[in-house]
Amino acid sequence: MTILVTGANGQLGRETVLALQEDDEVLLAIGREELDFSRSDQVAEAIADYAAEWVINCAAYTQVDKAEEEYELAFTINRDAARAVAKGVKLSGGRLLHISTDFIFGGEQSSPYKENDTASPLGVYGQSKLEGEQAVREVLPEALILRTAWVYGVQGHNFVKTILRLASERETLRVVDDQIGTPSWTGDIVRAIRSLIKTEATGTYQFTNEGVASWYDFAMEIVASAKQLGFPVMAKTIQPIPTEEFPLPAKRPAYSVMSKVKIRAVLDHQIPHWRTSLHAMLKQESGA
Ligand SMILES: NC(=O)c1ccc[n+]([C@@H]2O[C@H](COP(=O)([O-])OP(=O)(O)OC[C@H]3O[C@@H](n4cnc5c(N)ncnc54)[C@H](OP(=O)(O)O)[C@@H]3O)[C@@H](O)[C@H]2O)c1
Repeated sequence: MTILVTGANGQLGRETVLALQEDDEVLLAIGREELDFSRSDQVAEAIADYAAEWVINCAAYTQVDKAEEEYELAFTINRDAARAVAKGVKLSGGRLLHISTDFIFGGEQSSPYKENDTASPLGVYGQSKLEGEQAVREVLPEALILRTAWVYGVQGHNFVKTILRLASERETLRVVDDQIGTPSWTGDIVRAIRSLIKTEATGTYQFTNEGVASWYDFAMEIVASAKQLGFPVMAKTIQPIPTEEFPLPAKRPAYSVMSKVKIRAVLDHQIPHWRTSLHAMLKQESGA
């Protein structure tokens, strides 16, 4: 099977490429240099030319705060290029797995968001990703759309790496405790992707690790595990703070836990709890 991964230098794309290399598949890994999604008019033809049986679209404009200013670019990459990827896949007759986000939801619920719950993004990034999903469905109704959230891994920049760095430099950390979600390890997201592309599943699915956390809970666990694993830790206190004490340009959902009932039924394995996977990632990061 020939699989094309876009966004191959990003944190999820890179992990996907590394994992798929272990499988007996023909892998095409492309980044911005091979195909620039900001030139969305060129994307459909280029994707069709690769003639892959599966396209896994990990490329995206992911700078949530900067998107509030660079909204045209965010929509070009997350909506127009996503539509073009779907058109390319349609032309070549392959299948598409497109990655999306919990930020399409507004965070007003207090129970896990199901795939068909009403989307009401709070910012440009979320809106552009939502319109990307809609464009993909319009062009290719049989596409797989996989929403995930709070992504971290050994590749790229993420919350875990930021907390590890801050904890090695400061005695006190202040972390938001009124935004609730589920940390998701790229290792587990990729395992879910590998499992999904072996099925006939179509439509929208949601994947995160199991469990629920605030950013504060997440930071507490990162620092506790980091100490156990011998990372340098100077931090003695982690202080929970409300979102208004850490203002950012883009509003975040207060509650963005997503239901996994649908995906559990198609995966060929159990989903690990976020604490278990965080520990696995930190072990990998420490080289232990
Ligand atoms: N990070 C999260 O917490 C999170 C949460 C939920 C969903 N997601 C979704 O997960 C997917 C992967 O995100 P990620 O965390 O891996 O983000 P990432 O590390 O920022 O990766 C995104 C990739 O897209 C590429 N890209 C950006 N602009 C491009 C352009 N003009 N042309 C071609 N490629 C371009 C980037 O290329 P460069 O390497 O050249 O910059 C990067 O490799 C995205 O769909 C994102 O919306 C992420």
